[in-house]
Amino acid sequence: MEENILNTDPNIVAPVVEEEIEGFRHLNNPADGIKPIVKKYLGIPNSVVQSGNKFYFTDGEAKVEAVVITNEIIRIRVAPHGVFLEDFSYGVPKLEARTTEFKLTEDADEYRISTPNIRCHISKKNFFIAFSDSDNKVTSVDAVPMHWEENTQFGGYYVFGTKVCHPSETFFGLGDKPTELNLRGKRFTNWNTDAYSFQWGQDPLYRTIPFYISVNEGIAHGIFFDNTFKSHFDFGAEDASKTSFWSDGGELQYYYIHGPHMMDVVKRYHILTGTHPMPPMWALGYHQCRWSYYPESKVRVITKGFRDRKIPCDGIYLDIDYMDGYRCFTWNRKYFPDPKKMIADLAADGFKTVVIIDPGIRVDDSYPVFKEGKEKRYFCRRSDDYFMEGHVWPGRCQFPDFTNPEVREWWGGLFDELVQLGVAGVWNDMNEPAVFGAGTFPDDVRHQYDGHRGSHRKAHNVYGMQMVRATYEGLRKILKNKRPFTITRAGYSGLQRYASVWTGDNVASWEHLKIGNIQCQRLSMSGVPFCGTDIGGFSGEPDGELFTRWIQLGTFSPFMRAHSAGDTKEREPWSFGEPFTAINRKFIELRYRLMPYMYSTFWEHHRYGFPILRPVVMQEQDVQSNHFRQDEFTYGDKILVCPVLEPGIQFRTVYLPKGKWYNFWTSELVDGGKEVQVETPLDTIPIFVKAGSVIPEYPVQQYVGELEIEEVKLNVYYSDIEANSFVFEDYGETFAYEQDIYLEKKFQVNGTQTAMTIQQSLEGLYTPRYENYNFSIVGLPFKPANIMVDNKWVTNFTFNNSKLEFRHNKNFKMIKIMK
Ligand code: GLC
Repeated sequence: MEENILNTDPNIVAPVVEEEIEGFRHLNNPADGIKPIVKKYLGIPNSVVQSGNKFYFTDGEAKVEAVVITNEIIRIRVAPHGVFLEDFSYGVPKLEARTTEFKLTEDADEYRISTPNIRCHISKKNFFIAFSDSDNKVTSVDAVPMHWEENTQFGGYYVFGTKVCHPSETFFGLGDKPTELNLRGKRFTNWNTDAYSFQWGQDPLYRTIPFYISVNEGIAHGIFFDNTFKSHFDFGAEDASKTSFWSDGGELQYYYIHGPHMMDVVKRYHILTGTHPMPPMWALGYHQCRWSYYPESKVRVITKGFRDRKIPCDGIYLDIDYMDGYRCFTWNRKYFPDPKKMIADLAADGFKTVVIIDPGIRVDDSYPVFKEGKEKRYFCRRSDDYFMEGHVWPGRCQFPDFTNPEVREWWGGLFDELVQLGVAGVWNDMNEPAVFGAGTFPDDVRHQYDGHRGSHRKAHNVYGMQMVRATYEGLRKILKNKRPFTITRAGYSGLQRYASVWTGDNVASWEHLKIGNIQCQRLSMSGVPFCGTDIGGFSGEPDGELFTRWIQLGTFSPFMRAHSAGDTKEREPWSFGEPFTAINRKFIELRYRLMPYMYSTFWEHHRYGFPILRPVVMQEQDVQSNHFRQDEFTYGDKILVCPVLEPGIQFRTVYLPKGKWYNFWTSELVDGGKEVQVETPLDTIPIFVKAGSVIPEYPVQQYVGELEIEEVKLNVYYSDIEANSFVFEDYGETFAYEQDIYLEKKFQVNGTQTAMTIQQSLEGLYTPRYENYNFSIVGLPFKPANIMVDNKWVTNFTFNNSKLEFRHNKNFKMIKIMK
């Protein structure tokens, strides 16, 4: 056993020599037995060397690197024996220093790296690392020095970081965990897992997002523990005064991301990991899925069912049965004799066909994909060079190593034929990776890891992300300037650069409706914006009420898709008869009406890194009770939604953040900063619009692009406080926005008791084809006598039930409505 000889200072708070304890590792890996563990801690820093924006501290043997990335982001890494691993990350593709405004100072107690907005303190007494803001308020501080244990089996270390957990500190993030939104008092593991019919509190699930947001005394910061090995987080569960994160391998490497607002933290997390590219606008429509719609005649019955009943729908999915023996990139010609014709007919009717593609490739020398992959040595191998084999849907399979860039390139090219057939989107499933029986790959499977080789322990959590990356990048090449649509089940931080996600195999129960509502909010604030649940629940049977309540939630999920397992009854929006069908239609129509608002919110995410869904704690983090609210959320920052999550209820309590809100259904003005009781008959859920908002609206279409939009309705909600909104417009399906071919319209609304103004300014090079706005001004506190637009009078307007309506050319600069 080694001794930590570095820690000799009597003042050191942390344990200084070896500890024999049953550590975290043993709690999580009972198979390890209870061997004594030697935990080694950083000693005393005795020097610092600066190299540009990087600072190296050492205790004589271990090294700590601090890198200044922006004025609010600093990364910390530890090399136990002084040698850092190569600086490579799938989560953070480019580590660009975006500031030069930092300096190093020191005094008797500490080294201090300061940017204009934060400070990183490295204690000379005990190597504790702390962060503070420019007011010197400490936001994060080590509870013990960073430490590690040698891994005698695999080499490397188990690495640990432990911070002080403050009494009122709360925690959010970590992706798809099916538990309360606030993570305080809980412990989690990240290891991508196929979790069929998962339950409340089950952990881990499908994704690894090792990023959390802490809020303490009104100040937020984030920690992104960029480590792909099995990782663990403890938010005061084992010891209420400590927050820990640790991993079974790799480097102790984390980013401190300062707020002070939670929105700032999420935004800055996206500076590191990227945002979601703009999806094709149709992907924001309604999607219908089932395991599986086949044969072709069934697909046609379903799609016709939508059009006959006038229920809008854009996406239609083919699950595994479209393939020949579940072989990816093949077609079952008995069920689908002429896919090209079918897909073209569906497209003519406005449907975009999305097909599933799994990672398991059937071992079959007469199957070209297998043959080529085998010849080119693209499949994963075990430590002794045997192929990694496992059973999945097709039977015995081998699995491409998506961490190899050459394999990704090959895989991406395989979609060429599907695209030529007209397929519009790809659904990557089972990519945890899932293997029947064993669960996943054994640890010893080798991965190329973009030249930074590693075992499956290191690559497991990024396997799915690299699969969907290969899919997305391949599609992007094939489609040229058209936007691909992709969806993945598994992923790691940064997956949002390549795909949308759904929350996996949920259950048709009221509890799962509640879980889904939390999961979507959590994913959104964890940097996974384009997310949704299997509406209705994947397994089990919802009744009409549950299904309708789920459609209502889904209307306000960034991704809206109904899906169900093969052994369940039919599950389309009309399957439950009336009154359910009419209500389902009403909500799906609402989604299409709000399409330009939702699309603009997506742009706000893409361009600025804001989440699409925002739990109320993100609106008002200074109100402590909001840290425990998890039902209501805003979509963007203008529309507040509170789904109904229980059967048979006619009323529910909704918290409205401070400010004024309009009831979307009744236009009644309500004061926020308090809870309100809202009626919830089956055909409605509480929806409120913030005063001062400009909400653009399209006419109902049966699919995106059905109608040439001739006029956009602008719903303007009166406010006596100046308020800003924006609307984003572009072609909706190309990457022209990357060349500034888009239009960002900024609106400013302001009102008094006798007048109201609406100003518009434009940014970007796109020109929409419609000419007019149809204004609907809600909540005017006076009867309008005159309307002037850019110095011209508008004579044609109506005013009924305090709603003012008129039309005007879209190119106005200033509207003045007067008493
Ligand atoms: C998995 C997926 C599910 C899919 C099924 C068959 O269970 O999570 O969505 O329908 O596999 O492909």
